[in-house]
Amino acid sequence: MEHDVFQYYRKMRKESPVHFNNDTGSWDVFDYKSVYFVLMNPDIYSSDPSYAGNIPENRQGPGASFITMDNPDHKELRNVTTPYFLTSKITGYRDMIESTSKRLMEGINKNSDFIRDYAVMLPVTVISELLGVPENDRSKFKEWSDYIIGNRSDAGFQDLNRYMYSTMAEIFKTNTEDNIISTINKGLFHSEPLSINQKIGYVMLLVIGGNETTTNLIGNMVKVLSEHPEIADKLRQEPELKKGFIEETLRYYSPIQFLPHRFAARDSVLNGQEIKKGQRLSIWLGSANRDGAKFEDPDTFNMERQNNDHLAFGMGIHMCLGSPLARLEAEIALNDILNKFKHVKINAEKTSMLKNPMVYGFSTMQLDD
Ligand code: HEM
Repeated sequence: MEHDVFQYYRKMRKESPVHFNNDTGSWDVFDYKSVYFVLMNPDIYSSDPSYAGNIPENRQGPGASFITMDNPDHKELRNVTTPYFLTSKITGYRDMIESTSKRLMEGINKNSDFIRDYAVMLPVTVISELLGVPENDRSKFKEWSDYIIGNRSDAGFQDLNRYMYSTMAEIFKTNTEDNIISTINKGLFHSEPLSINQKIGYVMLLVIGGNETTTNLIGNMVKVLSEHPEIADKLRQEPELKKGFIEETLRYYSPIQFLPHRFAARDSVLNGQEIKKGQRLSIWLGSANRDGAKFEDPDTFNMERQNNDHLAFGMGIHMCLGSPLARLEAEIALNDILNKFKHVKINAEKTSMLKNPMVYGFSTMQLDD
């Protein structure tokens, strides 16, 4: 069940922290200082693949969302929903998220697949509520969960695409509520209303970016609780430690291990290595978050860690738009996990981890309690 990725990162940070990978033809960046520098300098390390000659087939299309753009375009599109994702706004969804979580948790027993039946369903249901997807379309969202938990087939993606262009396009037309859909509907880009492709691209970014990641954070919290049985009681006695527990889980088992999309906009030197204009970089958040030059005793899970400046949500202009939502869902999930299971214990034989090195999390999990 355990991966040896953290050992590999330790070796790379020591021997070759900025490393040209001949297999992928791109640079791998492992140490905190360099990862942080790349994130904070988008003028040198762009998110726009056209610097590497990969021009998205259609800049207006659903595949080309603002995560692959630089400022000022990125900022203009991101700002369309920024107010909607502020902590103050997201807090208003606490009751809805709590009741969704309680309902899902009631259905969980020791034969359930905790990932499929809870960790996937919570973020999927929450985002479908935020997007105003009708109740009887929710099963579609469940179908996506297959896509989301790793069976990333082309067919799955086509289904998602078809759904978006039929149902979501209809929702954009008929929505009368004051919600994220109306916010996107009112959005402007280059002083023009967003095209339907841009609106769908927006929603797909939220759905794809926000679900698997939150699922993995929830699964990884369970992993920590299972590995350190003393933590659950401590959290029950000192609930003020919960926030630190969530942040430390994000650092220790980061749901996104690396971001594969940075492109050198000009020649530069990064930690002694010459990066040429047009070269691609993968930045290893999961390694930066275990760097002993930044974090004391980095391989120890310490929920009382001070100044936990982890990079699990990225940093700089592209820093995760949904982090307040993810943190709230994690807090509610943690409360319900602690209430439901006296002892949190993963059944290793009936549990497996995702095989994709980009993400850290579980494809399936059963609990013993
Ligand atoms: C634990 C859960 C999550 C993790 C670990 C995570 C991680 C990240 C990271 C590392 C980035 C930076 C990408 C980059 O620099 O290229 C990012 C961006 C983004 N995330 Fe999240 N995310 C999570 C949850 C969510 C949720 C719940 C949503 C929304 C519903 C969301 C929406 C976005 C969006 C829209 C961006 C693009 C921001 C931009 O380009 O300006 N994420 N996320």
